[in-house]
Amino acid sequence: MAEEPYGYYRELRDAGPAVYLEKLDAYALSRYEDVRAALKDWHTFGSAEGTAFNPAMNENVQGVILTAEPPEHGALRAALMERLRLSTVRDLADWVQQRADEFVAPLVELGSFDVATELARPFPSTVVGELIGLKPEMTEKFVIGSDAVFAAMGPMNERTRRGLGIVGEVLETIAGLTKDDLEPGSMGAALYEAAARGEIPPDHVVKLLWNYAGPAFDTTIHAISNLIWALARNPEQLSLLHEDPSLVPAAVDEGLRYEAPIQIWGRFCRKDVTFGETVLPANSRVAILFGAANRDERHYPDPDTFDIRRNARDMLSFGYGLHRCTGAPLAQLEIEAVARAFVARVREIEILDSRRHLNHTVRGFQCLRIGVHT
Ligand code: HEM
Repeated sequence: MAEEPYGYYRELRDAGPAVYLEKLDAYALSRYEDVRAALKDWHTFGSAEGTAFNPAMNENVQGVILTAEPPEHGALRAALMERLRLSTVRDLADWVQQRADEFVAPLVELGSFDVATELARPFPSTVVGELIGLKPEMTEKFVIGSDAVFAAMGPMNERTRRGLGIVGEVLETIAGLTKDDLEPGSMGAALYEAAARGEIPPDHVVKLLWNYAGPAFDTTIHAISNLIWALARNPEQLSLLHEDPSLVPAAVDEGLRYEAPIQIWGRFCRKDVTFGETVLPANSRVAILFGAANRDERHYPDPDTFDIRRNARDMLSFGYGLHRCTGAPLAQLEIEAVARAFVARVREIEILDSRRHLNHTVRGFQCLRIGVHT
């Protein structure tokens, strides 16, 4: 992932609806409508063949919800959604807000801190780790595995190989878990219970735990840093939030649109499909560019401007259709809680130092040191 991909994305969108990328051996879809149409048509743009850009990782993701198709997909999704649906997650709002305030308040008192390492990483790790029912040292392994999963999705190179190595180690650790390693009443324990009731195959429990672990951490981690960065660079938008804190959910949507935590994801094209004048050949790999689609000027006026007053509810950062993110309500709750904790305490944010996190899939920060004025 380039440090600043948006100029390149614009070139791709302007070059045509589907552009062959030699390095990935895949056809890139970068326009909003095309990305949405492809995600909707899961019969044609399949996930079962894998959503990565190398065969080893495509093999690795077999059996998880991301590569499952109906009817099996429905059973896996129901098992996960039991704990993640909006109505259930809403009950967690006060608890998540309290956690966010506990994290943000002491950092703000320091006057300067690294958002990436001191807030964006530990906050969702603690919240999601507790919800899954993991012990802290196991949560840390899951978080390391989460970054590795996204690194290992790329074309085969050194970063992918390193990611694959870590994924293998983390999966071995998870395979050794039993119900007793998970807190009673947690999302993780619920999976073992669903297996005991015969609702999901017992050998799917480990994969499902991995389903929580893979996408739940680094996506939210990067979304938090990206939003704080955008607010720091656009102080008038932070002022809008001070004037009207009810804009926080809109700011979170806009943050996710502006900087999609997952920039690229794979699909497999099962038959010839025509996009404009371009034919996507059967049996080709497809790169779904969430980051580019969210900045498509054909859909969003002035897409490179971060504007919390626009309605970005339809951004594609959580995907669309069959595989749309099951964790979206929880992720939104977490990011909103951090934003509220900031708005209540911070007048101005100054970026003191920043370094992008380089990964094949996700976009965020390795370091985002800020100074805050209350
Ligand atoms: C800002 C945070 C997040 C972002 C940007 C994000 C993004 C995505 C995207 C783009 C997909 C679709 C993949 C596809 O189409 O193949 C997805 C699926 C998924 N996400 Fe998230 N995610 C986030 C947070 C979470 C959280 C917190 C959880 C769990 C607690 C989670 C669990 C899942 C699962 C289980 C799927 C697979 C759904 C399916 O295949 O039916 N995600 N996510």
